[in-house]
Amino acid sequence: MTWRKLFLLTVQLLSLKTCNAESAIRDPSIRIASLLMRVTRKLDTIYKLQEEVMAELDEIHSLRKISEDNGEIKQTIHEVECTGGVYSFDRASSFRSANETVAMNNGHVVRLDDILYGYDYLFEQKHLFSAGSWLGVQSQQDPWDLVAIQQLLWDVKPKVIYDIGTNVGGSAILFAHIMSQYAKPREALIVSIDPKDFAVNWDAEAQRLCPRCTAVADNPLWGQYVRFVKARAVERSALAALQEAISTFGGPVLISVDGWHRYAEVLKQCQVLSQYVTIGSYIIVQDTKLDRFLRKAGPRRAVYDFLKNNTDFEIDKSREAFLYSQHTDGYLRRIR
Ligand SMILES: C[S@@+](CC[C@H](N)C(=O)[O-])C[C@H]1O[C@@H](n2cnc3c(N)ncnc32)[C@H](O)[C@@H]1O
Repeated sequence: MTWRKLFLLTVQLLSLKTCNAESAIRDPSIRIASLLMRVTRKLDTIYKLQEEVMAELDEIHSLRKISEDNGEIKQTIHEVECTGGVYSFDRASSFRSANETVAMNNGHVVRLDDILYGYDYLFEQKHLFSAGSWLGVQSQQDPWDLVAIQQLLWDVKPKVIYDIGTNVGGSAILFAHIMSQYAKPREALIVSIDPKDFAVNWDAEAQRLCPRCTAVADNPLWGQYVRFVKARAVERSALAALQEAISTFGGPVLISVDGWHRYAEVLKQCQVLSQYVTIGSYIIVQDTKLDRFLRKAGPRRAVYDFLKNNTDFEIDKSREAFLYSQHTDGYLRRIR
């Protein structure tokens, strides 16, 4: 039912005193309008209560003085567990169609964004990010975004990919796999950066969730297409490797930002590395969804602040092809 129709029916309903009440009850559209008004009023109450619960949880959190040094992912899970599944009416959602509601067959009326948030909740709480693999290598990419990234890589065909956050090589190996379909070894390169050894997974749950996963070094694509540098993304040795790759292979150059998802680090990485991205190519800022879990500035805010002072990039919403994305507003295309 369109809002215009609902409005007309509401007017009709309000003027019931002039109508025959009995026929109104028999008219299903009037009954629907009446029920919709009641549901809307009740939903407003639910959202208000959720807001109050979240404000109280906020106070609990600030009293507990959660340490900034605990690590973003740890905090994310902690945050989710603390809320016990209660989640807020997120006005900051950047999902398209977020505020559309859907009536479930169990009588619940929920916002589309609530459903998507529920999936995000499971993804973090159950460590589903460690359940996936690509060519046998544990990869922490969300399946929806993985397809979107595959489409993007195929369109751009980058000669150099700067892969921030190797972990055990999951993103590097899938980038290499796609790269191998448009470039031969020694025609293109992935510079994969991590301060930690790629033989060790940061997530202790990964072994349990991906028991059949194998070491990335066993995959020939690793040797053919990936140069691993044990460093932080904006450290001199890592930048030197990136510059060397660009002078050897040229462009397009693409950056994937998937280290720890702290606001300051992500902002710095965008600021320092944007100069290397070629026009038409991208910075992919991953896990922008974490801002709403952490309920503080994270990668998504870093994107907005980066764009305030850099007009060479714009958010490419067309890359969120499945509407659901864990990197909402994180696909940044260089336009000039
Ligand atoms: C979310 S995991 C990366 C997952 C990986 N990209 C994948 O798709 O399988 C984050 C990784 O980033 C690394 N990291 C943290 N800070 C970093 C930085 N400043 N530069 C590069 N890597 C970083 C961590 O050690 C960790 O292994």
